[in-house]
Amino acid sequence: MKGTILITGGAGFIGSHVVRLFVTKYSGYRIVNLDALTYAGNLENLKDIADLPNYIFVKGDITDEKFIPELFNQYKFDGVIHLAAESHVDRSITDPLAFIRTNVFGTCNLLNAAKNAWKDNFEGKRFYHVSTDEVYGALEFDGTYFTENTKYDPHSPYSASKASSDHFVRAYLDTYGLPVVISNCSNNYGANHFPEKLIPLAINNIKNKKPIPVYGKGENVRDWLWVNDHARAIDTIFHNGKTGQTYNIGGNNEWKNIDLIYKLCEIMDRKLGRAQGESAQLITFVKDRAGHDLRYAIDSSKLQSELGWKPSLQFEEGLEKTVDWYLSNQEWLDNVTSGQYQKYYEVQYTER
Ligand code: NAD
Ligand code: DAU
Repeated sequence: MKGTILITGGAGFIGSHVVRLFVTKYSGYRIVNLDALTYAGNLENLKDIADLPNYIFVKGDITDEKFIPELFNQYKFDGVIHLAAESHVDRSITDPLAFIRTNVFGTCNLLNAAKNAWKDNFEGKRFYHVSTDEVYGALEFDGTYFTENTKYDPHSPYSASKASSDHFVRAYLDTYGLPVVISNCSNNYGANHFPEKLIPLAINNIKNKKPIPVYGKGENVRDWLWVNDHARAIDTIFHNGKTGQTYNIGGNNEWKNIDLIYKLCEIMDRKLGRAQGESAQLITFVKDRAGHDLRYAIDSSKLQSELGWKPSLQFEEGLEKTVDWYLSNQEWLDNVTSGQYQKYYEVQYTER
């Protein structure tokens, strides 16, 4: 594998795992990680690979109309893996415009720069857009799944912005022939997950004996996938997926929120030497999220049968590993919750 690949959002949760996988697995690639380092971007996630010769970090914003074409001109990218986004549903409810700006306009700005830089000669080029299962809306408790043919029906400003970006990606294929590929993935969990999302928030609160907020009655269902398995899927699709296709990625692993929280409490009690049942007393039912999607469940059979990917880890094992990671990376958690990590990157990155 040779060439220069742009990965956007590589300082975030999933992006950092994707960057690490590509930088360490493919020494022939030059990986440029472009990230604006918003509150969700943290270069501490990548400190183990920061000095590798095939890795470059660039601080920049995907919405910048002047800077993005310059970046394409400077690095002559062969491919793009686009993960940068505003990603938290609750934030999208309080600040929808930020989501439109980054997820819709930012994606279009990248698409346009790729189209112009590649000058309509798309041989050997690929624009991979990383999206979410939330674009499909919500399922009932009826045993159905999201497939690649499920009609788009987003409900939150976040999912509407991701759906819109998906449409623009397809429009660039249909209108200009830009060689795109899209994946829509279910909920990820694992190391480096920002503790505003359910699993790391619960781990952090249990550890600190703080209330665990469960929205509504905790009956909503999510399909959880280990983040490293998502990164492996992205690797597979980037290299072997067919241009113009969409691939669903999921864990085939549905959990009601409340059952998941009880499971986490049980694991944490065991690991922290607390009496079983102690942490569950922290569970606090709070006002439901507006427009809260009831159930997500992914049918990933296309990816499994056509490209041979499958999840590598059982959920219980993944949760144990995740809890272990948070318990042995207290400094990361402290830095993130105190805002200290923003100081870390002020001194660590080089403007290129
Ligand atoms: P994250 O919020 O942890 O990270 C997002 C990263 O993008 C951060 O490093 C942030 O600094 C960067 N970023 C934000 N705005 C930017 C901008 N304007 N310019 C440049 N960089 C910017 O998100 P995540 O959970 O890692 O999600 C990554 C991608 O995967 C997103 O596109 C998301 O929609 C998608 N996705 C996430 C999940 C999940 O469970 N977390 C599941 C499916 C799909
Ligand atoms: O499905 C993929 C999506 O998964 C991604 O596209 C998003 O970027 C990612 O954030 C995630 O979205 P969710 O809204 O499903 O994740 P979150 O961790 O915010 O919430 C998971 C479930 O837990 C959801 O039903 C809401 C609930 N919840 C969440 C929080 C933060 C609570 O009950 N309490 C909480 O405090």
